[in-house]
Amino acid sequence: MNATMKGQTHVICEICGQPIKADDTRVKTSGWLRSMIGDGGTAHYSCAARIANDRAYLSGDPPWDIGRYHPELARLVESGQLSTGQIIIPGVGLGQNAIYLARHGFEVVAVDISQEAIRKLNHRANSADVKIHTIIADFIIDEKKIEGSYDYVFERSFLQTLPSTLRRKYFQRVANILRPNGMYIGFIRGPRHPPATSQPYSFEKEEIVDLIERDFSRHEISKTISGQGNGIPNYWLVKAYVN
Ligand SMILES: C[S@@+](CC[C@H](N)C(=O)[O-])C[C@H]1O[C@@H](n2cnc3c(N)ncnc32)[C@H](O)[C@@H]1O
Repeated sequence: MNATMKGQTHVICEICGQPIKADDTRVKTSGWLRSMIGDGGTAHYSCAARIANDRAYLSGDPPWDIGRYHPELARLVESGQLSTGQIIIPGVGLGQNAIYLARHGFEVVAVDISQEAIRKLNHRANSADVKIHTIIADFIIDEKKIEGSYDYVFERSFLQTLPSTLRRKYFQRVANILRPNGMYIGFIRGPRHPPATSQPYSFEKEEIVDLIERDFSRHEISKTISGQGNGIPNYWLVKAYVN
């Protein structure tokens, strides 16, 4: 759908009805989106991610959720490699890792684009009697909703949702909200054969290095598990440090 405003023709987002600006990331109708917005539709990436994830969380616990905290995260905390501090978690989902970190003394800020994920996480955090500050926002775009600076940014399986055009922006944002000597810790989906051409995307080590090396002064990348039970080391554990 197009609309002419102030003499300029804009594509209109089929989900929110607002114009899609030239530098907005957009998605075109395909797969699940076709069933929602019909053929030939275009939407803001944010709008599509919001409704897709709400739908996944409303229909039960989604396939990426591991139902517990990641054992490698626990190892990092319990071995003293991560000492307590302020930690922000983009794409937190149902928040098992967030709850684990809050229980272990971290001040946790949890961000998700899906209000359903955050609603369920708030409920779980209340039941677990831990304090987590939750924010419904697009971590990359909604800069004003996410204030402050942090000792750590932690993610599991968030990068894998981002189209290639947003990945550099994501790591710039991560580096910007980290304090001096701050650390990014990511559990990132490793290579698959054939490589994924839609989300969940998968990453070769070199691709990750290429994404992070401009904004981080040092990094370590090792193999780890997804946390989902089969024990196959098909994820990367990425630790990256800002100056
Ligand atoms: C694959 S899931 C992983 C969830 C969780 N980290 C886990 O390990 O179970 C990706 C999460 O990112 C959220 N998400 C996607 N795009 C987002 C964005 N731009 N900003 C914030 N959250 C986003 C989704 O709603 C979803 O909860």
